[in-house]
Amino acid sequence: MTTMFSKTVKCALSAAAIASFTLSTAFAADTLRVCSDPDNLPFSKSEGADKGLYIELAEMVGQRLQAKVEYVWWLSFNQRRALRNTMEGCDAYFALPADSEYKVKGLVKSNPFLNVSYAIVAPQGVKFNNLSELKKSKVGVLHASPPQILLASQEGYNYSTYRTQEEVFAALDKKEIDSALLWGPSAGFDNKNQFGNRWQVIPVKGEGLGGQVAIAMSKDNPELKDRINKVLEELKPEIQKLTIKYGFPAQEPLLVNSRKQSQQLAHATPAKSGFIKVSDKAPQREWLVAESGDTIAEAKSNFNNKCSHCHGANGASPVSERDLRKLSIRYKEEWKDVAYTTITKGRPDLGMPTWGGILPDEEIKSIISFLATLQKN
Ligand code: HEC
Repeated sequence: MTTMFSKTVKCALSAAAIASFTLSTAFAADTLRVCSDPDNLPFSKSEGADKGLYIELAEMVGQRLQAKVEYVWWLSFNQRRALRNTMEGCDAYFALPADSEYKVKGLVKSNPFLNVSYAIVAPQGVKFNNLSELKKSKVGVLHASPPQILLASQEGYNYSTYRTQEEVFAALDKKEIDSALLWGPSAGFDNKNQFGNRWQVIPVKGEGLGGQVAIAMSKDNPELKDRINKVLEELKPEIQKLTIKYGFPAQEPLLVNSRKQSQQLAHATPAKSGFIKVSDKAPQREWLVAESGDTIAEAKSNFNNKCSHCHGANGASPVSERDLRKLSIRYKEEWKDVAYTTITKGRPDLGMPTWGGILPDEEIKSIISFLATLQKN
């Protein structure tokens, strides 16, 4: 008999056997093996009193599935390795970004269950309506973090960089800076546990500063995915309580102000992953193969005016999913079609604006010809 967590192995002895036998492999039916990071509070921690939101959630999921939870600890700074491990050593990975960058062969993801984002950390009482109000003050950010890239690419921000979140909180305390842009969950956690909620932590959304997380599972186990989705739905109120317990920013997120803001809102389709499957490619277009040097130079400056504040100068963003030098590695020979679709239609829910109707079609194609000069293979 197969059970809810068992991978099934078809016994290949005979045609009859294929039809009638399935065997459970390595893991027992009453155990859910969970992969998680051993040291990533407020999300997960292998030791100590605070287990983290993911681990408390994993326990509740296990309970509802009537399975004992066992942990396989993996440091998530090597997330790819953790992912491969998921397919071999665990039944479920708690948790991963719900978005496209973490689409991995062999893995499926549950419905997203939690919003996570960067946040403004500031003294209580100061009101913010949009990010540009930080221009009036001095902002602390972590070195090479997405907020630093964002502030660096826009005019008028006065910011200082720090190596650790502790240093940022210390600088706030000494009034070296007026506010900070930090990873919301960890800033909220420290604010609650170390500073008695002395600061306000306001989550932001837009410009790629936030996203959602989901549980990843092996694709071979569709039944587990359905069960977990159902349980996550039932556990919504509990998840809400956990976010409060761990100090996650509770306010409504502030939409990061941008030129395309209203347009992004108009196109927003929340809770939908922006991943463009290669199989959904647009019909093959005629790509201008031989663009003149002048056109490329023009496209390059166009790109560096309009796109570089999110994708880095010449597309060389340190944030992997925005690094536009990797398009051909990522999408193989379909990359131009994926790029064309992404640029014209945007991925509004992931912070990539829609440029169709804003940039003329020739300009978009020239930019793609410029991007072609950057590809690493
Ligand atoms: C406001 C920030 C922002 C701006 C401005 C922006 N992008 Fe993006 N772009 C993103 C984000 C975020 C993603 C990644 C979305 C995701 O995770 O799938 C993205 C994805 C892309 C992708 C697909 C990358 C991939 O691997 O799938 C292409 C191509 C792209 N952008 C091109 C452009 C071009 C060309 C411009 C300028 C005309 C531009 N972008 C301007 C934020 C931005």
